[in-house]
Parts: sequence; C-alpha cells; structure tokens
Amino acid sequence: MSYLLDGKRIVMGTDYYPEHWDPSMWDEDLKRMQETGIEVIRIAEFAWNKFEPREGEFTFSFFDDFLAHCNACSMKVIFGTPTATPPAWMTDKYPEVLNAKMDGTLYRHGARRHYNYNSVVYQNFTKELVEKLASHYGPNPAIVGWQIDNEINCECNEFYSESDTLAFRRFLKDKYGTIENLNKAWGTVFWNQTYTAWSEVYVPRVTLSNNTNPHEVLDYKRFVSDSACRWAKMQSDIIARYRKPGDFITTNGIFQDIDSHRMTQESLDFITYDSYPNMAYELDTNLPAGDLKDRNWSMMLDEVRSIHGIYGIMEQQSGANGWNVRMVSPTPRPGQITLWTMQSIAHGADYIGYFRWRTATMGTEIYWHGILDYSSRENRRIAEIRKIHSLFQKIGSVAGNAYEANVGILESYDNKWDAELDIWHAEIEKQSAAAIYRAAQFTHTPIDYVYLRENTGAEDLTKYKVLFYPHAMIANGQQVKILQEYVAQGGILVLGCRAGLKTMTGQCTQENLPGVFRELAGAEVTEFTFVAKDEGITHAGWDGTEMETVLFNEELAPLGSAKVLARYEDSYYQGSPALIENSVGKGKVYYLGSAFSENTAQIFLEKLQVANPYGNLISLPRDCEIAVRSNGSESYLFVLNYSKEEQKLTLHKQMNDLYRGEMVSGELTLEGYGTRVFKIEEQ
Ligand code: GAL
Repeated sequence: MSYLLDGKRIVMGTDYYPEHWDPSMWDEDLKRMQETGIEVIRIAEFAWNKFEPREGEFTFSFFDDFLAHCNACSMKVIFGTPTATPPAWMTDKYPEVLNAKMDGTLYRHGARRHYNYNSVVYQNFTKELVEKLASHYGPNPAIVGWQIDNEINCECNEFYSESDTLAFRRFLKDKYGTIENLNKAWGTVFWNQTYTAWSEVYVPRVTLSNNTNPHEVLDYKRFVSDSACRWAKMQSDIIARYRKPGDFITTNGIFQDIDSHRMTQESLDFITYDSYPNMAYELDTNLPAGDLKDRNWSMMLDEVRSIHGIYGIMEQQSGANGWNVRMVSPTPRPGQITLWTMQSIAHGADYIGYFRWRTATMGTEIYWHGILDYSSRENRRIAEIRKIHSLFQKIGSVAGNAYEANVGILESYDNKWDAELDIWHAEIEKQSAAAIYRAAQFTHTPIDYVYLRENTGAEDLTKYKVLFYPHAMIANGQQVKILQEYVAQGGILVLGCRAGLKTMTGQCTQENLPGVFRELAGAEVTEFTFVAKDEGITHAGWDGTEMETVLFNEELAPLGSAKVLARYEDSYYQGSPALIENSVGKGKVYYLGSAFSENTAQIFLEKLQVANPYGNLISLPRDCEIAVRSNGSESYLFVLNYSKEEQKLTLHKQMNDLYRGEMVSGELTLEGYGTRVFKIEEQ
C-alpha cells in the first residue's frame, strides 16, 4: 500500500527545493510545514548538478544530508529524477542531446526541457544517473515515491533533432515494413511526394505554406507520444528495480501529443496532475468574458480521472502565477486556494501537494508564488492552508471513493491529434467539446471522459447511460463494434457530424458517410457544408423544441427502420433531416448532422433524462458546481461556489455538513468562493 492514495485519508504536501535555500533554513522550514499539516514534499526534479557536477563525477552528499533532516522529523519525500534539466557541461560537450526547432536551430542551455527523448547520448546519461539515484536513495526511509522527469511534453511537444529523424524512421519501419506501404499510408502520390528510400524520410521540416503531408504529421504525433512513453518507461524500469516495497512511481501533468493512458499503464502506479486554475485570471488572458474561468480546470481534472480514477495533485496553486517573461496575475483571493483544492478533491484527488513552499528569489519563476513569499513572514495563504488541513481531517472518509457520472464523453488520441493538424476537424471539435462541457456544468450533470483505446471493451462503457462521441472523424471497425455492443446492451450513443470520415491513416473513406458508422447510426449523409457566416445560427425542430445546429450541417437520410427526429428549419436545406434515431438492441443511437452548441447539448441531456441527476437532493445556482464521490454505500456531495458572491442552496434531504459536523437541510447560504462537503445519509 503506497503512502499516497491509500484510500483512507487525504494527504497534504508541498514542493520544496532544498538547493535554493541555505541549509540553515531547512529544519525551520520542515517544522513549519508540519505545523501547517504538510507530511510529504517533492524534491530534486531539476537538480542534476547536485548529483553529477561534472561528467562521471557522482556525489550524493547534498541530498543525503537533506534526507537526514527529513528522517529526523519524519517528513516523507517524493524524489524526482532531474532529467528535465540537463547540465551545461553536457549540452556544451554533446549538443546532440538538445532538441531543435523545425528549422534545425538547437534549443540552447538556459531554460529547461531543451533535451530530446531520442538522443542515445542523453538516454545513456539518464540511465546512468537514474540507476545511481535509485540504487543510492531507494532504501532511504524518508522516500515514499518517485516522480519521473517533470511535466513530460510540457512547454515543448515538437522534436526535430537528428536523433528524432533517426528514431522516426525506425518507428515507421516497424509500423509499415516497406517504403511502399509508407507511401500508400501517407498518400505520397499527391504532390509527387513519393519516397524511394527510408533515408529520404525526415521528421516534418520547414516547407512552403508551413504545411507538411497531414498523414505524415499524424504519424509524427504518434511518434512523439511513443518517444515520450518510451522515455518514461526507460526510467521507470530502472526505479522499479530499486524502490522499496510500497514506494510508488508517478509523473506529473498531462500534455499535448502524449498518450498518458499508455504511459500510466506501462510505467506508473498512478498519475499526478499540476493544477493552476488561477491562470484563468491572468490579466492578459484571452478567455472570453462569461467563460467558465477557473471552473475550466474541472475539465482537466476529469481528463486526469480518465487515466486513473483516483489521482494526486503534485502541484496545486497556492499563489499568483507569473514568469519574468509571461503571465501577470492576481494573488488568489481569500477562499480561492480552498476552492481549487476542493475542486481537485471533488474530481478524484486524494493527495494535494502545493506548489511551492517558498517563492523563488531567483530565476524565471520569481513571480510564480508559493505558500510563503520571499521572506518567512506569516501570510494569509499559509493561514488558509492550515485551515484546509483541518478540513482534510473532517472530510477524510471521502478518500478512496469514486467520482460518479452517468454521462461519458468519448475521445481517442487519434481524433485529438487529428484535430491538432486538421482545421476542419479542429473547428467542430473545439466548438462541441466546450459546448457539451458547459451544458454539463450548468445543468449540474457530472461527466467522465472515456478514451477508446486498443483494449477498451463494451464492459468499460456499460456503466454510462449516455455516451457522446461528438466528432468521431477517425474510427475503425473494431471501435464501431464495441460501441454497437454498448448500445445493444441498452446504452445511448450520441454522434455528431463528420463521424467516420477518415481511416486510421487520416485519409478520407470512399464509403458513403458516416462510413464505418453508417449501419450503427442508421443514417447516411447526402450533402454537407460549414454554415455560412451570413446564415447566422441554423436550427432544427425536435418534438416541438427548437434546437441549434451550429457550425457544420449535414443533410441526412434514414436507413432501414431509423427515424428522422428533427429537420433543418433554415437555409437552402430547410426540411432535410438533421437528426436521426436508430434503435439497436436495447439501446439507441442518435446521429446529429451538426456540431453542438451549449443549447444543443443541454437539449440532449434533458431529453435523454440524464441532466441534473442529483436534483432530488439539492437545488443550486448556475455558479456552483457539484460532484459526488461514492463507494456505493457512502456518498459525499461537494458543492463549489466559483463566484465571489454568496449563493443560496436548497437541500431537499437532511445531510451531514462535514465541515461543521452537523445535520442540515433546507435553504443554506454559501459564501463567495465557498465550498461544502455533505455526507448523503442513507434513507
Ligand atoms: C509547472 C512546473 C513547475 C513550475 C510551475 C510554475 O508547470 O512543473 O516546475 O515551473 O509550473 O511555472
């Protein structure tokens, strides 16, 4: 059983950089952390020079000394491998370890994450160091777990070094076997791109119109993900040989172009996330007014939960964010650190580590504030965190309970990555992803993200009453078969426009659309168009409800016994079918020929009777989010107020207010940024 996520309590931690502070401060810091409620610290993730100050010269004394201080006071430690920051002696002597821009210019020493995963030289340095760290520090009693690297793929998810080209060729040879197969998969006959030898193939390079063969780019994204996953596995295999029984291996964050599900399955015991909701309040932010703001981070937390039902937060916001070169932001207002902490816990976190104990006095992050400011002065934020710790004692029994959702949103990495390179895909995906999430939030309908992966089976889906797959542009027969089984067993599947357009290489199918989904959807697309700007928003009537059919409109035709539920009311295709319902076994498939607006998604949630599933327990205003964590017999209801105004809630049943330890019901007032956790008593 690992120290974190033991299913028994919520644990508090922080991120500490002993190398940034005079050792005379350590004991005082550790003591004060413990007085605040902090039991775990994450250390060392950027400190390569403290272990190998010069090539081949290893020393462990600095962190031996620091860990002795931790052991003396029983502070627990998560030890980070420092591979996000290669040392200057290395990058200077072996520039091949550096990542490059697309034009080949190397990213030089001076920042971080400037290495590439595929450099054999960097891999060898890393293997040697990680082996030395794991074997030396592994037995240390202070250590309870390991963090691999730091934020893999953060800040940079594109790699163009020579090592990457060599590795890309190997990846493609494994995948396609022959250059002829590669030519076919990439459609290189178009614009005369045909390759005659593997040596002619490169990672994407500078091209005219900044445009590279899209099938190549899709494979390149798969390759970047594969490289990152192999990077994590290389380190985790070493640590696994030396860690003490019970010590966990994790890494922090989810970023673009990495299959975090695969990485977690192959290399980690669980994933942790870095949550910075205050970024929604950056003064130069371009989030539209009235957007979900910090509530958007719930979406990220839902994504993390799709990887691991219960997870940790390795870095939870505790102060203003800012680098010297970007981001100016306010300090979290009174109550907001608590709000964001409870947001993490509501969505499935059982560990909260605050970033960082002290604000850095040097370097890029002097404005990325921690719990303390530059001096040791007592401040409002540490006082709030102490209070949060006392709340952790009161809500401890939430730990180990699963987040409840009846509605799932299907995703696949292929579609995610395709939407990064294909603007037609991106536009509809962006529109629908935000709209469905907003509709779920504002109707108080918890959702899960569910990834269709190679090993996903219908049994992973049947717990959801409704699954949305907004734009399944890339799909294969196997995925359709699983969805068919889900529906046949009573599930409801909602598909949006452009489903089945592309095969796994990203080429368009010649079948009638929606291609592989045609039979399941009971629908065929006869005509389609992006909605012209001068049309405004188009609509379709569904049983007397006027529903928006935004952005892209397909004219549909029903197949077999499928029924037309709604027809377009505008434009030249007025009267054509816009929504088709197909009964399959015990369930139903709805095929909507458009993208989703918040209005459209809300209509689906309501008509399919999955909106506001806790309406019998609580009524609450739009500015509040709810979440339920439950183990089947015990259930906990979280209420989170994201506005600075107080809000009125009505509890329709008696519940135990865990913060106050008293039974409550009826009308309650929640202060601005306030949160509550209620235990739903058995009836
Ligand atoms: C995270 C990162 C930390 C720190 C923080 C503030 O992304 O893991 O090391 O940089 O952001 O920028």
